Formats: sequence, structure tokens, C-alpha cells
Amino acid sequence: MNISAAQVKIFYIITFLVIMNSNAQSLEGYDLWLGYSKIEDPVILPEYQRHTKSIFFNNGSAVLETAQKELVRGIDGLLGQPSNIHNSQSLLNTMWVSKKMDLDKDIVKPFKADFEQIGKEGFIIKSITVNDNSILLITANEDIGILYGVFKLLQLMKMHKSFEGINIVDVPKIELRMLNHWDNLDRTVERGYAGFSLWNWQKLPEYIDPRYEDYARANASIGINATVLTNVNANSLVLTSAYLDKVAALAEVFRPYGIKVYLTARFSAPIEIGGLNTADPLDKDVIEWWNDRAKKIYKIIPDFGGFLVKANSEGQPGPQNYGRTHVDGANMLANALRPFNGMVIWRAFVYSELDTTDRAKQAFTEFVPYDGNFLDNVLVQVKNGPIDFQPREPFHPTFGAMPNTPLVMEFQITQEYLGFSSHLVFLPKLYEEVLDAETYRKGKKSTVAQVIDGSLFNSKISGMAGVANIGTDLNWTGHPFAQANWYGFGRLAWNPYLSSEAIAEEWLRLTYSNNSEFVEPVKSIMISSREAVVNYMTPLGLHHLMDTGHHYGPGPWVSDLSRPEWNPTYYHQADKDGIGFDRTPSGSNATSQYSSEIAEIFNAPETCPEEYLLWFHHLPWDYKLKNGEILWDAVALKYQEGVDQVGEMISIWKQAKTYISDDQYNEVRMLLEIQLKEAKWWRNACLLYFQTFSGKKLPPGVELPEENLEFYRSLKFPYAPGN
Ligand code: GCU
Repeated sequence: MNISAAQVKIFYIITFLVIMNSNAQSLEGYDLWLGYSKIEDPVILPEYQRHTKSIFFNNGSAVLETAQKELVRGIDGLLGQPSNIHNSQSLLNTMWVSKKMDLDKDIVKPFKADFEQIGKEGFIIKSITVNDNSILLITANEDIGILYGVFKLLQLMKMHKSFEGINIVDVPKIELRMLNHWDNLDRTVERGYAGFSLWNWQKLPEYIDPRYEDYARANASIGINATVLTNVNANSLVLTSAYLDKVAALAEVFRPYGIKVYLTARFSAPIEIGGLNTADPLDKDVIEWWNDRAKKIYKIIPDFGGFLVKANSEGQPGPQNYGRTHVDGANMLANALRPFNGMVIWRAFVYSELDTTDRAKQAFTEFVPYDGNFLDNVLVQVKNGPIDFQPREPFHPTFGAMPNTPLVMEFQITQEYLGFSSHLVFLPKLYEEVLDAETYRKGKKSTVAQVIDGSLFNSKISGMAGVANIGTDLNWTGHPFAQANWYGFGRLAWNPYLSSEAIAEEWLRLTYSNNSEFVEPVKSIMISSREAVVNYMTPLGLHHLMDTGHHYGPGPWVSDLSRPEWNPTYYHQADKDGIGFDRTPSGSNATSQYSSEIAEIFNAPETCPEEYLLWFHHLPWDYKLKNGEILWDAVALKYQEGVDQVGEMISIWKQAKTYISDDQYNEVRMLLEIQLKEAKWWRNACLLYFQTFSGKKLPPGVELPEENLEFYRSLKFPYAPGN
């Protein structure tokens, strides 16, 4: 067969187009939930065209400039035509975007109560009638409220919501909504599974990667208003002038999006970069050094947020090195930042090698006695559970136990213990469970969310932090569905009472499609994914069974590490008589750190929720569960259930194929295959190991492991990421 030159040319053109097309598709994830492709829906499109015919935008500041830019970008994309924006107001306008102070008094008057409710950061989106003209009003007290209102408007449009009779009055319930980046100055990310750190310290401050602005947009679109740029295992170099200039350059990009930068402060910085021979918080020179450093920082970054500090935890330096307390350390820094309205966020993630009691008790024991002793620009940041970001933990008992100290919730968005960025796990389900938990600290309806948002104890300031899962990967988060965890964290930091199901739906519609035949099944995958990972990793309250250091895969047999509480055997306590950690009064008595109502429930195996059973109890292998199964069978069946749930997720995902691009479909399909393989690995390794104690056969319905225990024990992963 002869091929003509023209045919060759056509072949190359087609090949080129195919390559371009597939590149375009694999870049799709870069837009996150902010893609603005043209709305084709014939019903909603004319309505949006009508409302956006003539937009009055009252500009006048950097944040408002940003808001206008975002509105134009969104509307141009969604409607497929340039938007018609004016800076003078008229009754011919169909939309007004303006702060309250710039609106006519008569317009504002009927909504006085709404304006009072929305405070500094909230917004109102309302359909109003002025002289018989229907106008869509987006308004707020402050610039930042306008930006949030614009993002909300665009989200509503992306979800094809009608504006007829719209009346939204929305305000964040939590003040500090922050990401914590565990990013090192060499651009590695501790527990990061999505590439390297976004911050290109080498090229800053001159080179501004356009990605910094995209990062800020994404955060602002969900209301995140603070970012800690550096790892809690801190490097004091970031506090030197050379680095502060780089930090200032980032702050400048983030500022028009309402985002403040924070840094981690290494407690020994006065020694390392200050030339002092002590970092004692009561030492006069040390105090002066920090005061000076604060002055320097605020000169370069006038709206610097403050310090996040990990002190006397996992080898980090802190006040205890000098016989001082957390209060001494935190208050010394707070005094340095106070003249500039800076905050100190002091972490309560502590557990000492010298303390042989249950690790789950240590943070509470160390911090609760200090309640009320911190200065008022100190917040104490507490992880969601008492151990360390496990697939499931009961809520941290410190929530509710420090009524005179604002407590920041620390969630982990990066999946250190939840399958890295290979497993699809929708974390808002976990966050919701913690936030909804009853503390009983002021009777019934004293939930963790009420502690965090400050309403339970009337706290002056409130905060929620999420350890970021963001890196240089094209889609930011490694797994496309890990974007939903960033999104969902932001939504819950804005409003900790939102339901995870509503968040999943929003994210799917904003990211992929409004088609309910796509949304409903895929939402069911997301919703069941959290329970699946608990089942195939650590069912019935088991915890910390992961392999050492990198935390990749199962390692329940590990027992030889220098500190007892680093060993999985410390947590599961399996022996021939049974399994589980006794935290009742007959054991470590960790339950006593909860309110008596909660302690009572946890103390008895009969009343303890089964999902926490082995967290609080050591029980015999033939202990009978409520459904009549003996414990060994129940553990084995739960592991199997987890594997089956992933199988189910794969078969449901097949239904998604027709609604998204091949690349989008295949990317998740391949990742789900990894998840299934690893779920089986977890099941097999854990059951074979626990079977050496129970001595019992696997119950019917549980697949037999493909390999023997030695095989699973022999696996080594020196290059697992994120370590
Ligand atoms: C976990 C994690 C560490 C991290 C620590 C922390 O232990 O494995 O990498 O530094 O939490 O939160 O400080």
C-alpha cells in the first residue's frame, strides 16, 4: 500500500491533535473546583444572561479588584461572552456588587439585621426590587465579604442554581481558617504525597510563580484566610532577613485574596540564628531577641499572622529544655507579637518518652492544668484525636476541658495514615464525626464544633487548621479526589455544621458534572470511602498498626523500636487472651479525661460504641458482639468488608465513565485498583498476624491470604514518599 505525503501529513496532524487533547484533559485537574466552562443548560442560561446583562461593580481596593477580576473571569467563562461591568450605578443594572457603605440608605434599611449578622467576613446575596426593577445584590460590610460573595455567586452558577427569590446571608462561624503546610525549605514536604512544596524559596522573592496566585484563589474560594508556610518541625532559617523577604513576596500575592501568612517558629532560633547561648523564655536576652525579631518581621510583612509552634514534642526544642512550661514559652512569644496583633498558635501534640502512662492521655495531662494561663493572643492547637490522625479516633478529650483557652482544631488533610494519595478517602466524613461528637461539658448539646467555633465558652477567637495535602503535582493533591478533602476542609472551617454529604455533592458538581446520574453514584463512593479505609486498616477501634517511619502499609508486628509508644504492639496489645488497649479504670483510665457522661459510655464494653471497642477495651477473642459474632470473627469480617467496599467502589466508578473524559475516568480507575490491592494487603497481613494469637480459623466469607505472614513481614519500603 502506498501512502501519499498528504496522508502522512494528515496522520501527523491527527496524532498531534490527539496528544494535545489528552494533555488538555490531564491538565483538567489543575482548575480544581474553579473551572468555568460554558453553561449549556437551556433553562438556566437565559436566567443568568438576564441577571448579568449590566453589572455595577463598586471597586476601590486590592481585594475588590480581585473580586471583580474573579467575577469577570467566572461570568465570561460560564456565559461564553464578555461580561458587561460598569463602575457607575444605575437602575438599568441587573446586578449590583457593592459594600453596604456605598449603597443607598433606603436600600440598606430593610436588611439592617442581616448586615449586623454578617460581621466582617460575611456576605449577602439577595434578589431585590428597586423601582420595579429586579436587581441581584451582592453586598457585605467589608471588601473581603464581597470577594467571598462573588465566589459563592459563581459556585451557585456552576451548580445551576436559580437566582429567583434568592436570599443568602452567610458568615463564617470560625475566625481562623488555616492551612498548615509541613513544607521544608528544601522543598520536600513532610507527609506530602503530591510532589514538592509549592514555595520555590530559591527563586523567591524575584520570581513569582503564577501558581501562587492560583493557590490563593482556590483557598479564598472556600474561605481559607490563613496559611502557615513551613513545617512544624521547623527550621529557624525562615526567620532570617533573606527568607523573610521571600515570605513577604508570598504574602503580597496572597493579600488581595484575604489570606495572611504565618510561620513556624523554632524555639531554639535565638541560639541558631541569634548567636545567643540559650533559648530560655525567661532570659532577658532571649525575650529581647524575639521582640526584635517580631519588629523585623512586621516591618517587612505588616499583616503577618503569627507563629505556629511545636515545642517539646518529638525532639523539637521548647521551654521545658530550660525547666520552663508551655505557658512560659507561649506567653513570651505572645508578648513579642502582641504590639502588632500577631497570634501564637501553640500545639498540644505532645507525648514524652519519660512518661510511661498511656500516650493517649499525655496532651490532656500536660495542657488542661494550664487552662486560663495563656495570654489572649495565644491559641492552643489540638489534633482531632488523642493519638495521631488515625483512620478513626474518638475525639480528643481536651475539647471541652479548657473553657478559658481558645482551642484550634487540627485536622490532617494529607493522608499520612490513610493510604497516601493513592487511596480515595473522603475526609469530611471523618471531620464531621469529630465535630458532631458530644463532649457533655455543658450538658447535652455541647459538641466539639461548639467548642471550636467558640460558642460553647464564648471564646474571643476561634480556629481550625488543616495539614495541607497540596504540592507541585499538576492536579495539586495527587489523587483527584483528594481535592475534595482540601475543599471540604475549607467548607467545614467556614461552617463546622455542614453535612459531609452536602459537601461531597457540591464538590462533585463544581468539579465534574451536575448530572445526577453521575453525582449520585459517585457521591455514594465518597461517603462510604471513610468507613472502608477504617475497615481494611484498623477496624473496631484498632489503631496505629502501620509500618514504622513512613507509615505505609501494615506493620502490626513491629515491637522493637526504642520508644514503646512508637510500636504498633503497644496499641493493639494482642495476646492469646485477646486484643485491644484497656483505657478504662482497670487499665490506663484514659476515659476519666472525658466528661463523666462520656466516660461512663466508653467504660463498659456493652455501651461503648463498637467502632471504638478496642480503643478502650482489651477483650477476649471469643467476646460476643451485639450481632452475636465473636470478636475474632468480627475483626476478620470487618477487614473483609473493607476490601469488599473498595471492590464496590470500583464497580460504581464504572458508571461514571460516560460523564467524564477518558483520562479523568482512567486516572481514578487505576488508583482504585491500587487501593484494592493495598486493602487486601492490609487484611491479609493483619489477619495472619493476629491469628498467631487467636489461634482461630478465618470465618466463612473471609478470603484466604495469598501469601504467608513471613512474606508480609519481609516487605520493606525504604523509598516510601513523605518521610
Ligand atoms: C506525626 C507525623 C510527623 C509530624 C507529627 C506532628 O507524628 O508522623 O511527621 O511531625 O505528627 O504533628 O508534629
